[in-house]
Amino acid sequence: MTEKDFIPNAKHYTDRLHIIEDGHFTWSSPSNIALVKYWGKKEHQIPENPSISFTLNHCKTITTLSFSKKENDDQFSFDVFLDDDKKDDFKPKIETFFKRIEIYMPFLKAFHFKIETSNTFPHSSGIASSASGMSALALCLMSIEKSIITSNTTLNSVERSFDNNYFIQKASFLARLGSGSACRSLEGDLVVWGEHEKIKGSSNLFGTKYPFEVHKNFKNYQDTILLVDKGEKQVSSTVGHNLMFGHPFAKERFKQAHNNLSSIIDILKTGDLKAFIKIVESEALTLHAMMMTSMPYFILMKPNTLEIINKIWAYREKTNSNVCFTLDAGANVHVLYPEDEANQVLDFIKEELVVYCQNDHYISDKIGLGAKLL
Ligand code: DP6
Repeated sequence: MTEKDFIPNAKHYTDRLHIIEDGHFTWSSPSNIALVKYWGKKEHQIPENPSISFTLNHCKTITTLSFSKKENDDQFSFDVFLDDDKKDDFKPKIETFFKRIEIYMPFLKAFHFKIETSNTFPHSSGIASSASGMSALALCLMSIEKSIITSNTTLNSVERSFDNNYFIQKASFLARLGSGSACRSLEGDLVVWGEHEKIKGSSNLFGTKYPFEVHKNFKNYQDTILLVDKGEKQVSSTVGHNLMFGHPFAKERFKQAHNNLSSIIDILKTGDLKAFIKIVESEALTLHAMMMTSMPYFILMKPNTLEIINKIWAYREKTNSNVCFTLDAGANVHVLYPEDEANQVLDFIKEELVVYCQNDHYISDKIGLGAKLL
């Protein structure tokens, strides 16, 4: 597949676009947490290295996209609401997204859109909503594309059929153009994004379901998110990615991500939890090491992030538990553990880790199945 394969055939649109007046679609789409991290991208949101993530189950964005035909089609027109509040400060990001995807979605300027969105986690929790938000919006847009094409009676039945694979692939392709990691938020429960020699079908353009055997140790894997700092990040992911240009360790880092993904394929198959921990924690610390060694340098971890990491290491030493941590581009800690250790680890979290969370706030989640049309 290339980018061109996502540019629709004009004749699939022309007739129906005049007939479809309005409608709405609602999708719920989850957040995801990377095991091997994406950090560094080329132009057009192409990742410098492949990544793999667990799709989450409870942390989701629910978006309703309503559309109505408008008079002139010379510019984008939309309003955005978060929990019923009009959010004009969200508009520039969505405008940029619309500009990037317009060539793949030629109907965008024909409609006025109302985007109503809500998260199952608090917006101010420091949990990034861009992955779940952009994937939910991309899915709603694909539902419009599908309704236009499948209702076009002037097409033959083959042209009119809308393959489910194509739907998900293009939604992931579009979500990527909104926010890179969003392309891994459509399906469950493990998703790969970025070309990797051992994963046939892996692509830089969209996420694909992890295709290999996964040991029962990883079924229903648990993720408790410790909200260490709910404030706005000082450095956005986009700025951080850009600092990988000319970064002194970039080349080695990208190579390491390829190798770690190769190792994780074996680990996921054999169920080797100790080896899993090593890769996952090393990836998290490497991500932050890249931030600390870029120019300008920055630190997103907070003192309590380190307190939690040390507590997890001490607990593991004492109990031989398989609990481990990972981090995204912020101070919050994702505590990962197998389902059969859930009771003990939750006790440990409540007794020893919650004190390091802002307002004792944490969110219990686990690996999930992906986005849903509501
Ligand atoms: C640290 O996907 O938020 O979470 O493509 O600029 O929107 P943009 O960046 P984003 O970067 C996320 C990076 C990460 C690691 C990961 O999810 O793989």
